[in-house]
Amino acid sequence: TNQPSCVIVIFGATGDLAKRKLFPSIYNLFKNGNLSDRFAVVGVARREWSNDFFREKVIEAVHDASDAEVDSEDVASFSDHFYYHPFDVRDTASFVSLKQLLDQLDDTYEVPNNRLFYMAMAPEYFGTIALHLDEAKLTEVDGWKRLVIEKPFGHDLPSAEVLNDQIRQVFSEDEIYRIDHYLGKEMVQNIEVIRFANAMFEQLWNNRFIANIQLTSSESLDVGERGNYYEKSGALRDMVQNHMLQMVSLLAMEPPINLSTEEVRGEKVKVLRSLRHVPASEADDYFVRGQYGAGEIDSQAIKGFREVESVTDDSNTETFVAAKLMIDNHRWAGVPFYIRTGKSMTVKSTQIVVEFKDLPMNLYGTQDVSLGKNLLTIHIQPDEGITLQMNVKKPGSNGETTPIAMEFSKKSALKMNSPEAYERLMHDCMIGDATNFTRWDEVAHSWQFIDSIAEHWRDKLGEEFPNYPAGSMGPIASDELLAKDGFHWWPITNVENKNTV
Ligand code: BG6
Repeated sequence: TNQPSCVIVIFGATGDLAKRKLFPSIYNLFKNGNLSDRFAVVGVARREWSNDFFREKVIEAVHDASDAEVDSEDVASFSDHFYYHPFDVRDTASFVSLKQLLDQLDDTYEVPNNRLFYMAMAPEYFGTIALHLDEAKLTEVDGWKRLVIEKPFGHDLPSAEVLNDQIRQVFSEDEIYRIDHYLGKEMVQNIEVIRFANAMFEQLWNNRFIANIQLTSSESLDVGERGNYYEKSGALRDMVQNHMLQMVSLLAMEPPINLSTEEVRGEKVKVLRSLRHVPASEADDYFVRGQYGAGEIDSQAIKGFREVESVTDDSNTETFVAAKLMIDNHRWAGVPFYIRTGKSMTVKSTQIVVEFKDLPMNLYGTQDVSLGKNLLTIHIQPDEGITLQMNVKKPGSNGETTPIAMEFSKKSALKMNSPEAYERLMHDCMIGDATNFTRWDEVAHSWQFIDSIAEHWRDKLGEEFPNYPAGSMGPIASDELLAKDGFHWWPITNVENKNTV
């Protein structure tokens, strides 16, 4: 059924994610008829909140997240489904009382004993919570039980394995939904459709016709109040291990035999297994890291990363990563996938550019004019759309050409990082569709790759940091990475194909 009925338990309900994403998403699901009214949400966290206070927070969150007017009565009756349960991770008694509450809510709302446990708090407790859930028999259900788990899923392969072993004692692999919110984004989901529903792309989608693929996910914001977490993670673990590699997998995977969860994830994991691990001696030809210093964004002075609260003044954490990924399989041999991501960059944008190879011969170029490249750009955010650059005859001219862009724009009224992605993924999880969640072997292979990069960097402790000013597109080495191969980063454009950087 499209209108699932369950009790949702959110660990970390007083946190930022719950407020910004989860409450508004659940509200939208409810409002749009994608959630049965036989549901309840239990917020669990350390603070001593009352049900009423919690409900006020939920109402506030829904209002804050909506562009349009929301009906106050609607939101109020929605918030009646919310309950708060204070707890202490280490204290088994609070799990026993949680179970009583859940059983009671099953009765009140006629929920067929389906339980969704959502871990949206500090990851060091994920394992402990799972074990306590089991001990207090919260996971003994007549319906289904599922676990949604937020990143970071470990900070390297060994820690991810420990965490996975803990949760696997309580939940089976198909009950675990490791969330990567990029997989809920409209245009990320569109990658597969663009490729596998279009003869004119999929037939060219290989090393015979594609010169390189570029993936940028830049952010103009800095680390905000997450200095503590970010200082330990850095851009490599925060963005590359998950979001960037997920997008690379979707771009590079073979067509699955059908769209079922396991077929799709099976193809994606093969891409991760084909990533080239490079020896230390060559690491600098493949991986670039950066840390921003003072600079300016939108005419505002920005302090350097080392000045951020809870960041040390000799921090070696990277706030930028660029990499050349080689996928060593038949389809992609020789085609570099360039990725870059970072904080305090010029603009907030996620964009993919597929650069096609030149024709064998150029009939139209003169010595100083060459043909424009054929480029397929997938705009993930803030704009959502596709542009295709091709050459046409310059009107009125004699044999002169000019590149033009064909556009498809999914003008969306949604704000960046809107709850939309979470909304979709939460619904997927409630209906039991794990296709857009990360399977354990994907996590394991991506960590293996990330660990190999981190290893290269470990001994070379950021001698050159900071190496890019806030408000730029990263260090010079990032441009050199492509220049060495005779390429350059294509500018960030919006769907109207106007350069924004
Ligand atoms: C999160 C990272 O996973 O993704 C953040 O932890 C980052 O550091 C965010 O800002 C970016 O998400 P989006 O949807 O705004 O591109």
